[in-house]
Amino acid sequence: APIQVKKICCIGAGYVGGPTCAVIAAKCPHIEVTIVDLNKARIDAWNSDHLPIYEPGLDEVVKGARGKNLFFSTDVDKAIAEADLIFVSVNTPTKKSGIGAGFAADLNYLQLATRRIAEVSTSSKIVVEKSTVPCRTADAMRTILEANSKEGCKFDILSNPEFLAEGTAIADLFAPDRVLIGSLQTQSGLDACQALMSVYANWVPKERILTVGLWSSELSKLAANAMLAQRISSVNALSAICEATGASIDEVAYAVGRDSRVGPKFLKASVGFGGSCFQKDILNLVYLSESLHLPEVARYWRAVVEMNEHQKDRFARKVVDTLFNTITGKKIAMLGWAFKKDTGDTRESPAISIANHFLSEKARITCYDPQVTSEQMWLDLTDYGSIPAEPIKPHFSVCQSAEEACANAEAIVICTEWDEFKELNWEKIYENCPRPAFVFDGRLMLDRKRLQKIGFTVVTIGTGDRL
Ligand code: UDX
Ligand code: UDX
Ligand code: ADP
Repeated sequence: APIQVKKICCIGAGYVGGPTCAVIAAKCPHIEVTIVDLNKARIDAWNSDHLPIYEPGLDEVVKGARGKNLFFSTDVDKAIAEADLIFVSVNTPTKKSGIGAGFAADLNYLQLATRRIAEVSTSSKIVVEKSTVPCRTADAMRTILEANSKEGCKFDILSNPEFLAEGTAIADLFAPDRVLIGSLQTQSGLDACQALMSVYANWVPKERILTVGLWSSELSKLAANAMLAQRISSVNALSAICEATGASIDEVAYAVGRDSRVGPKFLKASVGFGGSCFQKDILNLVYLSESLHLPEVARYWRAVVEMNEHQKDRFARKVVDTLFNTITGKKIAMLGWAFKKDTGDTRESPAISIANHFLSEKARITCYDPQVTSEQMWLDLTDYGSIPAEPIKPHFSVCQSAEEACANAEAIVICTEWDEFKELNWEKIYENCPRPAFVFDGRLMLDRKRLQKIGFTVVTIGTGDRL
């Protein structure tokens, strides 16, 4: 008989595990979903009115299912023991030391969670990798599970990478382009795959559920992110050529994107990409390529990350150059700190690199972001406490509104494309700025002509001054 999934446990209540399993609970009222985490503060937040992550639509999904068939708990062992199917959705950051430091993924959290599953399970389980992992990680997980399991417990491992983007997580989960499930092609692997398919089949059309081998699934996640990031680095590389020639990157991207072989999406030039996935996954791919003795392949992908570093640096330099080659002591307003709009997440946000550049030039920064707390900005500026905050304090202040940040600023720098920045009273902001008043649009989001009419000098990514 096909395996019926009745209880699901999700290990890791983060940006991936939280929204994903909350949506599963909302769409499958007959399945009990428990999301566990070692971090008690995070679990308390999931159980409160103030969820630990900001994501449009998430509040409604959680409120609708919480306490009915959706639970958040720190009792990891109990949830594992009771579940038929376990999602492993723990963090896999880039290693900071040891072999592969700076490139390879740190699989320590994943292995600890896997060991826990083996130790506390008293019945057979389907174990699903949700975290993005290097190719062949499932092999290591299987070895750990088999070496530590109790009599009569059988583990099937599936790879089911999550493709949601932050800021649109709920919409992506409700109507995914595809759900990818990788399994071993053994009978028991295929049965496990069927069981997970039947969970998604509650709301995802069958033709969107793709089933492939375990290793293909693991590699596809890295490949998808690498291809997406590569588009941005390509368009950002072209933006530099536009600035030097008088071509406009928005026009070029529009023309190129109309070729149906290329397509219009993900061609927005920017200050550079951020987020927890792109850089990490590409570096992971670089490391994999090198371990497989494919140095040319490694170099190809590494260039995507290098172009991104260059773009952030190029933009920050452009601000300094335009302000007559010095920003020492000047007040600079940064609008946006998150790595993109509609999220409070700041991991690898380009705003952090830009702020560091301005600080090294001794500017005074006033910063406003609608969703990022000042605590988080300080964690980012001090690299989570490894850089002393004291010397930075006189040079960086967090504001409660865009107007407050912009008052008396010699330059306004857009780092995140929050919709509310379009609606600001730019006339009033202009009145409160010294002359010449500069706006640097790092996201190509503002109405350049309108701002110029008010009196601003507008500098954007990918547009030459020779109009
Ligand atoms: C190309 C552009 O497609 C066309 O728009 C432009 O006007 C001229 O250059 P062409 O070189 O004739 O046209 O053929 P194209 O179909 O683009 O193929 C170019 C090469 O890429 C071929 O060697 C083809 O085999 C290869 N290719 C194409 C792949 O290897 N994989 C693909 O997915 C597509
Ligand atoms: C990404 C992938 O999109 C998602 O499928 C995967 O599961 C996780 O990684 P995410 O990092 O949440 O999602 O956001 P995404 O929308 O991809 O944006 C990543 C970065 O690229 C952001 O900093 C964004 O501002 C930037 N970006 C995106 C551009 O600069 N230009 C674009 O055209 C698109
Ligand atoms: P992602 O963006 O991939 O979801 P996050 O860092 O937001 O990553 O979430 C991962 C979560 O996994 C964290 O809240 C962390 O506390 C949790 N976690 C890590 N290891 C374990 C473990 N062994 N057991 C339970 N939770 C864990």
